Amino acid sequence: MSGIPHDEYEPRTGFEKWMDSRLPIIRLVYDTVMIPTPKNLNWWWIWGIVLAFALVLQIVTGIILAMHYTPNVDLAFASIEHIMRNVNGGAVLRYLHMNGASLFFFAVYVHMFRGLYYGSYKAPREVTWIVGMLIYLLMMATGFMGYVLPWGQMSFWGATVITGLFGAIPFVGDALQTWLLGGPAVGNPTLNRFFSLHYLLPFVIAALVIVHIWAFHTTGNNNPAGVEVRRGSKEEAARDTLPFWPYFVIKDLFALAVILVVFFAVVGFMPNYLGHPDNYKEANALVTPAHIVPEWYFLPFYAILRAFTADVWVVQIVNFLSFGIIDAKFFGVLAMFGAIIVMALVPWLDTSQVRSGKYRPMFKWWFRLLVLDFIFLMWLGARPAEPPYSDWALIATAYWFAYFLIILPLLGVIEKPAKIPETIEEDFLAQHPDARTPAE
Ligand code: HEM
Repeated sequence: MSGIPHDEYEPRTGFEKWMDSRLPIIRLVYDTVMIPTPKNLNWWWIWGIVLAFALVLQIVTGIILAMHYTPNVDLAFASIEHIMRNVNGGAVLRYLHMNGASLFFFAVYVHMFRGLYYGSYKAPREVTWIVGMLIYLLMMATGFMGYVLPWGQMSFWGATVITGLFGAIPFVGDALQTWLLGGPAVGNPTLNRFFSLHYLLPFVIAALVIVHIWAFHTTGNNNPAGVEVRRGSKEEAARDTLPFWPYFVIKDLFALAVILVVFFAVVGFMPNYLGHPDNYKEANALVTPAHIVPEWYFLPFYAILRAFTADVWVVQIVNFLSFGIIDAKFFGVLAMFGAIIVMALVPWLDTSQVRSGKYRPMFKWWFRLLVLDFIFLMWLGARPAEPPYSDWALIATAYWFAYFLIILPLLGVIEKPAKIPETIEEDFLAQHPDARTPAE
């Protein structure tokens, strides 16, 4: 139930009344699709629907792929070839699933940076944000394990490098790594458990998406102006909002259709563009690829992981102070997880009273730099771990942490915000003067 006053569901037919007093499921659907939504939402608000679409696409294509895939180290690679060549529509299914993951991550990054710009993480939407971060972590785990399944060279070596990170944890690392892998090295038990979890986690994500939607339906959506819907009366609320159905459904579906044109063009004409050629060679524990690179969506955090080598002075100091327990590898792991944790804590690190970045003249520039920093890190993640790239990765990593830990807390104190509209209606009418009624 939303806290925004709106027209309540009223059961009309005898059946609806009967049902409503037993299982108010029609009421739930009505309240969900008719939810009052700020009428000034711009095109950055369409990515949630794209994400929901991508999740369903991944689950549907994944279930069918799983009917033909074999999670065994001797058969996995061949079973993928079998899907590509023999299964009806197999190649299309696989390419949809492969590129669907990229669509999913592209959408999630736009969605997250939208939230970061418009302050959607701020009170009272912290829980929406945190649930979103949990979804993102699970997406990363799912994507990583899915990439191991075709049992190509990059699958095998990617799994070896990433599970090796757990081995870097002091004292318990080795035991933890063996436990995760199901043995001393990446092998059949690893492939089996990754397959099992890769199948399971999307359903956990789906459950969290329901919680995510529940959370922002409770607070109401944020919007580009960052001011709340007036809740004094139904009439006031109605001047700030429109029901989700049909207005936003049609808008979101239109945007989804445009995005899918691009998506299907990639799937149809360049399905391997985002893949790595080494993954078309079967896994071989005796041949290490020249460069082990993860999928593009992991690259920014991969760059942070590799930025800290033993010759970096911060690493040396920490190593000395921790009596050698924190070495360069473990430091990199801490930095990588730390980069995600600071983002999760942003609701409490941003001290500004103003929600939307639109009215924050200084914030805007630092935010743009953060987006560039993220893209730069992504580029660096695919370069070899040597100077000058490793030096640049250190600078870019430093900015990532500085943004969340220093700049955001400070800006709230020193920045003088621009004038903020009083209501959503005012913001809407300023952009759509033709929507004024003659009386206004
Ligand atoms: C499967 C993944 C996800 C799905 C299906 C999803 C879906 C949605 C939807 C439908 C909305 C409503 C507004 C919109 O469409 O933008 C929304 C809002 C929001 N999402 Fe997500 N989301 C996902 C992941 C994430 C992640 C990873 C984060 C960030 C860590 C996040 C943060 C937020 C925030 C802060 C809002 C509130 C914005 C507002 O109030 O309008 N979401 N999400």
